[in-house]
Amino acid sequence: MLKAIVALAALVASVSAHYTFPSLVVNGQTTPAWVNVRKTNNFNTQAPVTDVTSLDLRCYDTQTNPTAQTITVSAGSPLGIQSDGTIYHPGVVNVYMAKAPGDVNSFAGDGAVWFKVYEISAVTNGGQSISFPAEGVPGVTFTVPKNLPSGQYLVRMEAIALHVAQSYGGAQFYISCGQVNVVNGGSGTPGPLVAIPGVYTGYEPGILININVGVAVLFLLHRSESLMMWHFFTPQYPIPKNYTQPGPPVWSG
Ligand SMILES: *[C@@H]1O[C@H](CO)[C@@H](O)[C@H](O)[C@H]1NC(C)=O
Repeated sequence: MLKAIVALAALVASVSAHYTFPSLVVNGQTTPAWVNVRKTNNFNTQAPVTDVTSLDLRCYDTQTNPTAQTITVSAGSPLGIQSDGTIYHPGVVNVYMAKAPGDVNSFAGDGAVWFKVYEISAVTNGGQSISFPAEGVPGVTFTVPKNLPSGQYLVRMEAIALHVAQSYGGAQFYISCGQVNVVNGGSGTPGPLVAIPGVYTGYEPGILININVGVAVLFLLHRSESLMMWHFFTPQYPIPKNYTQPGPPVWSG
């Protein structure tokens, strides 16, 4: 009985366990929430974006019209993006950047201007298991590419939760955009460049995917005075043999 209650509690908790990414980590310091990151529409609700064609897939800020302060980072050095809790759900991470033609404050990120600088994919082994290294971590850290030209950029965090991604529109996108001024840059040409929204259709094998290898079924049986509960675990779908990370390849500079 206790076990079942715990299982039910976990189920309820998982429904509300959403998150945002309000901070950067620069020179080992976590920036205060929504100072160097544009405030997202979900700063209160933490609800994800599920429509990949929505303008909110970009920076999730259509209702907040946010401003943020731009923070200086050095090319070739680590840059972190921090959640307000943990990346609770199983899924994958992409980090994109886009160079502002001038001041990033007035840069909307329109057009094919985005390139990927970092990703955390799923780990598969030919159908025996699938695991998600990004699950449960508080944030991610990557190296700003050494050859990235100096200038002002949006840096866009995207954590794609896949726990209910088995039907179209089920994948949950947790997004935010920070503002950085890259110094000590190089003369690389980042690419391939994509538009956001536009980069995904929602039908990619890494977005429309069933990662749930079993389904928990609870049975309640009333027998004399005692309430008995059985807990079955029924495998329903094959474990994916491989996983294709959504989006373009990482530009490492
Ligand atoms: C696995 O690889 C096959 C063959 O390349 C591909 O068709 C399929 O979409 C991939 N599955 C996933 C979940 O990425």
